[in-house]
Amino acid sequence: MPPSQPGKNQVFFGTFIHAKKFGELEYLHNTAICVDVSGKIVAIEPNCNQQKAVETVYARLGWSLDTVAISVARDHRQFFFPGFIDTHVHAPQYPNIGVFGKSTLLDWLNKYTFPMEASLSSLPKARRVYTRCIRRTLAHGTTTAAYYATIDVNATNLLADLCFSMGQRAFVGRVCMDHLGPEYYIDESPDHALAATRATIDHIRSIDSNFEIVSPILTPRFAPACSVETMRGLSELQKQTQLPMQTHISENVNEVELVKELFPDSRSYADVYDTHGLLNEKMILAHAIHLTEEEADLIAERKAKIAHCPCSNSALTSGIARVRWLLGKGIQVGLGTDMSGGYSPSILEAARQAKLVSNHLAVPGGRSDDLSWEEREEAKLSVEEVLYLATRGGAQVLGLANKVGVFEVGKQWDAQLVDLGTVPDEVVEDDQAIHGNVDVFGWETWDERVAKWVFNGDDRNTKKVWVQGRLVHVQTYMY
Ligand code: GUN
Ligand code: FE
Repeated sequence: MPPSQPGKNQVFFGTFIHAKKFGELEYLHNTAICVDVSGKIVAIEPNCNQQKAVETVYARLGWSLDTVAISVARDHRQFFFPGFIDTHVHAPQYPNIGVFGKSTLLDWLNKYTFPMEASLSSLPKARRVYTRCIRRTLAHGTTTAAYYATIDVNATNLLADLCFSMGQRAFVGRVCMDHLGPEYYIDESPDHALAATRATIDHIRSIDSNFEIVSPILTPRFAPACSVETMRGLSELQKQTQLPMQTHISENVNEVELVKELFPDSRSYADVYDTHGLLNEKMILAHAIHLTEEEADLIAERKAKIAHCPCSNSALTSGIARVRWLLGKGIQVGLGTDMSGGYSPSILEAARQAKLVSNHLAVPGGRSDDLSWEEREEAKLSVEEVLYLATRGGAQVLGLANKVGVFEVGKQWDAQLVDLGTVPDEVVEDDQAIHGNVDVFGWETWDERVAKWVFNGDDRNTKKVWVQGRLVHVQTYMY
């Protein structure tokens, strides 16, 4: 049981917005959502007022007034939205966000990333960095994150402890890399990489025995950094434990070339993971930009998932992942910040960039030039689609589709309260604008309001955040 459960039943009242299906948001107005003490949604009552909620829902649930805490989304400025899911993020790289210069993946790793990750073997530094990273991602509405930590077991275990105590749902991976790394930051042997991975699994089991809030995740950094023995060993461990796995694939053209040189007998980058037993429905592959048709088909067949990281892909000049093409093959896709390849801790920013980079696929002269006009237009993602990827898509990728990502009875209350009243630049003005002069804000459809949030919003709009019913962030900015 995670610490600090709310201790009370809760009712949330107002407007709820979530992805009903890919490309379609559902708006539940004047609705009450009832959450029990364990953090689970036990009733959803549409078209009611608070009075009716009290009378009918409490009676049905056998709740009395003094056992219930009420939270309200006010008028048409506020709404509840499922918490965001970051399917790919490097917690130890947090101090480097925005610092990448003109580098691309392989020189970026050597110049910025490995030195920073190595420096987190200092536990006081790791505590400072990880605490700030978790606090900041929670403040941006990220209720679940799939973290890469470092090769240091103690610091990795500390990240798991902090996620658990601060209440962020998390997958925490001790990074395995026993090949080609700098001598100051490398696993000394495959046995060492595997023993260290097991040590983190045991530690997380000791704090959260059912992996309810924090789970281990097997983390071979990427094929160039892993020996064949380490990949095989992790595959064996995965078969024994059924734990999820995460790695990188086909992010950068020089990386793809390097993989060809290192694995001359493999048919492709995806084939390297497949032949070493790592490509299955538990594997989350980040980036997946330069895949061939054959590789995408193999990933689909193995039911592996993809973390789309558009901020990182633009920042490190990696390329544009073809999300519609991947989805069309039946591959499940979520969004990742990929901090600090990505410059932002925000999945709202990732959603915005996912939409924008998909538009570039429609531009003549780009990588979709062999496509027809209709197919290029089709590549563009909508606001509704990227919000799906940010919530339900991410839940599928992390194997949590029956737990989070949508407001349904039986799901956990992992949610954020959004206030459009603080969208920057007076997208929403003041109460007078709302109730009187509505030509600045208040004239839009709800779809248009949500679009304003996606393109202009930030953590100032994220008022409160809950994970499994527990309040884990309250916004403290002053205006
Ligand atoms: N490939 C191997 N390691 C990394 C990393 O830390 N970030 C990104 N973006 N790609 C990688
Ligand atoms: Fe990454």
